[in-house]
Amino acid sequence: MRVTPGDPQFDVVVLGGGPGGYAAALYASAAGLSVALVERDKVGGTCLHRGCVPAKELLETASVARTVGNAKDYGVMAAGATVDFGVSQARKQKVVDQLHRGLAGLLKGRGVTTVEGTGTLTAAKKVRVRSEDSVTELAGRHVVVAAGSVPRSIPGFEVDAKVVMTSDEVLSLDRLPASVAVIGGGAIGCEFASMFADLGTQVTVLEALPGLLPGCDEDIAGVVSRSFKKRGIAVHTGVEVHGHAPGPSGTTVSFGDGESVSVEAVVVSVGRRPATEGLLAPGCGVEIDSRGFVAVDPWMRTSAEGVWAVGDVVATPQLAHVGFAEAIVAVKGILGEPVVPVDYGRVPWCIYSNPEVAFAGMTEAAAREAGIDVVVKRDPFGGNSRARILDETDGMVKVVAERLPGGKAGRILGVHMVGPWVTEQLGQGYLAVNWEATPDEVAAFIQPHPTLSESFGETVLALTGRGLHVG
Ligand code: NAI
Repeated sequence: MRVTPGDPQFDVVVLGGGPGGYAAALYASAAGLSVALVERDKVGGTCLHRGCVPAKELLETASVARTVGNAKDYGVMAAGATVDFGVSQARKQKVVDQLHRGLAGLLKGRGVTTVEGTGTLTAAKKVRVRSEDSVTELAGRHVVVAAGSVPRSIPGFEVDAKVVMTSDEVLSLDRLPASVAVIGGGAIGCEFASMFADLGTQVTVLEALPGLLPGCDEDIAGVVSRSFKKRGIAVHTGVEVHGHAPGPSGTTVSFGDGESVSVEAVVVSVGRRPATEGLLAPGCGVEIDSRGFVAVDPWMRTSAEGVWAVGDVVATPQLAHVGFAEAIVAVKGILGEPVVPVDYGRVPWCIYSNPEVAFAGMTEAAAREAGIDVVVKRDPFGGNSRARILDETDGMVKVVAERLPGGKAGRILGVHMVGPWVTEQLGQGYLAVNWEATPDEVAAFIQPHPTLSESFGETVLALTGRGLHVG
């Protein structure tokens, strides 16, 4: 193995090229800093290659299949349509490859030096990069650690990529299994359950907690749960999964009180853990917390001077856009500029199942638990013209506001949506929550008619005490 001595100097060395890392590299280079970005695989990370983008692309395949399936209701006769999942996968890969080429070109165009290999942070802000045939040492005035996360598994469910899979394997399946058990009914579990069901796979969801999508507002998660059941997805909540017994054509998963389900494949979606193996050499001074995440303060500073950490490797919401926001906080800190930390209680969440879920801010239950007196209004999509036209009426907009003395609604605390295209509708709700706007302020803005986004306007109008369609 050849060791390249030398000491290339960069203002910033970024360890990991996923959303947290590439955002740090782009933002730092836009600010005129010299940047090296270390990546062992492909820039774009989990989000682009094994997560958000391919998952949403395949969920779009499911949406197309649904549209074709319902076409006759509109007088469009398309009977006999089938899904060729090989074609779906090829299209997904084309989208991913195009975005990957775009990102790699963008980094190059911005003058970011991309270094291929596995990086380890050693002492004094040095990063040792191992590739197949060389070891290079990079030195930065600052280092941003953005090594990301990998899927967790559970004992007894070793991933073999044939019967037991995680999101990594599901996203590159070349054919659809006839039946799956999805263990974990969080964001990944619900997205995959929804995708498989819409493409004709028989789905069973096994969730340990009492409801799907823990952390979501209960009314919203309830709509998802009812929609899943209506579409034939078997949802078992509050159940422990005990193990599985492989057979000739799949496996039998045992759960709950003596129950079992025989399936062709198992998808384990029980969360993701930080990817810290081999990342930090002894003596680098970066502390890890009790759950294995890199410990940071609100400004993304680790315990080692000049070393920052962002994205899934730190214990904050594992969302690409949170990684972007944290990268900007870290780079502003590097530049010595004033910076406001990320407000994690008010970040936007989007889950791309059918129906979609999107929210920002406090759930009704969280607000009440915090001792806040609240006023709540809901507008079901059943009364929305555009939703009727789309024939996607499962869902609602729910807005939680604090109750002022006298009963009037004050600050908007949370906006929760479930239904058609809500991931694209959250913007106004996100702004309302983060601007700490009141219903009186927001209700003055006009919503175009007929649109899905009218439901947000209606709900806020109702919170002023005088709704048009919502009481
Ligand atoms: P998650 O933490 O969202 O959900 C995991 C679920 O598995 C929880 O409901 C948990 O109660 C359940 N669980 C844990 N152990 C279990 C067991 N032994 N048996 C049955 N259920 C069990 O994690 P997920 O869905 O794997 O996603 C990982 C991360 O990626 C999350 O932070 C998630 O927010 C993020 N993500 C976000 C997406 C989005 O916003 N659209 C999409 C995909 C992932």
